[in-house]
Amino acid sequence: MSSTVIRNARVFCRNQLVHSDVLIESGTIAKIGSVRAGEQEIDARGRLLLPGAIDVHVHFRDLEEAYKEDWYSGSCAAAAGGVTTVIDQPNTKPPVCDEQSYFRKLRAARKSVVDYGINAAIERLEQLDDLWGLGVMAFGEVFIQEKTHEELQHALQTIKRLNAVLCVHAEKRVGEISSEAAGIRTLFACNKEIGAKVHVSHLSEASGLDFVKGSGQDVSCEVTPHHLFLSKLDQARLGPFGMMNPPLRSRQDVDTLWSRLSHIDMIASDHAPHSIADKRMSHPPPGVPGVQTLLPLLLSRLDRIGLKRLVDLVSVAPATRFNLKNKGAIVKGYDADLILVDPNDKKMITPSMLHSKCGWTPFEGSVAVFPSLTMVRGEVVFSEGSITLKKGWGSQVCGAGSRRLN
Ligand code: DOR
Ligand code: ZN
Repeated sequence: MSSTVIRNARVFCRNQLVHSDVLIESGTIAKIGSVRAGEQEIDARGRLLLPGAIDVHVHFRDLEEAYKEDWYSGSCAAAAGGVTTVIDQPNTKPPVCDEQSYFRKLRAARKSVVDYGINAAIERLEQLDDLWGLGVMAFGEVFIQEKTHEELQHALQTIKRLNAVLCVHAEKRVGEISSEAAGIRTLFACNKEIGAKVHVSHLSEASGLDFVKGSGQDVSCEVTPHHLFLSKLDQARLGPFGMMNPPLRSRQDVDTLWSRLSHIDMIASDHAPHSIADKRMSHPPPGVPGVQTLLPLLLSRLDRIGLKRLVDLVSVAPATRFNLKNKGAIVKGYDADLILVDPNDKKMITPSMLHSKCGWTPFEGSVAVFPSLTMVRGEVVFSEGSITLKKGWGSQVCGAGSRRLN
């Protein structure tokens, strides 16, 4: 049995920092306490040892849009940013909506260096039971604007029966006006009698947050780093590189999201890479990359967020809501998905640090704290700026309905 000991770390365990060794055996946290010797030793030199982040909203493209991102480049970006598990959205080309497209996505995902869950679309309702049994993590993100109430309700009924989660892109657009509150209201009206679990993706407006919190429904929500660290005021500077759906919001919305961080369940990147050439077209596609900068940006504001809240937002809550067993915390018996961080090691984000194929970031010049080491199930995937493992270390994390063993 392979074993590794991490020494001299300040370990975030049971909501506090403890000075302790951590023993990892066969990819699992075997002991938090004093350890004699392991086959491999890692000296943390006083850094923080935290659970890896779980990014529940990435678009890793691949297949017909592999020139924008593929599972290797996307997952390297994740690892370099301290993300040890990603959940991929189904709006790829082709979309994941049946058994065939699901297995096609899974074959592409074999290149991943981090663990992954695969979401499926609700385009073909008669397929949802099979997809759930095959191991999809959740359904959606569903673009609410593209669905009739009837379609939404049929999907919600099945999702309720399966005890799955429906992720919803709740923004509704009329011309230049983008409103999330309207879409959230539609979602809750459709779900009122059904009571399925729903998840509001990339919530960006203060009014949307009011609806979510007052609904009484089984609902969770995520906010992106770009809606916390950028606002409409950055739009002119960024041009197409600051365009995404939902769009950047007012300074007031941003301030409200920060002040109500305790009402937000999780932070996810909505990593949606497009090439520089695509972004320079006359009608640039919406979306910005973010999986590598998600956690480093948040770590640069530990003074405001606090360590416990940060770990809840990026690790504990995603694992709990999406039912990722043995992930999201430093607990004996859990997967050794771990990162080492020096909170004082602040760096400016530059394109040369990025692993995404797209090669740009809307956060260029922002201050961030990158992990010095990222470990997935006990193997070091990223260390001191470099990817250290070959393609394919990542493994699928199946949803709760999986007929296969995880
Ligand atoms: O800006 C966006 N881009 N928002 C989305 O919801 C989808 C994403 C994409 O896939 O490019
Ligand atoms: Zn979306």
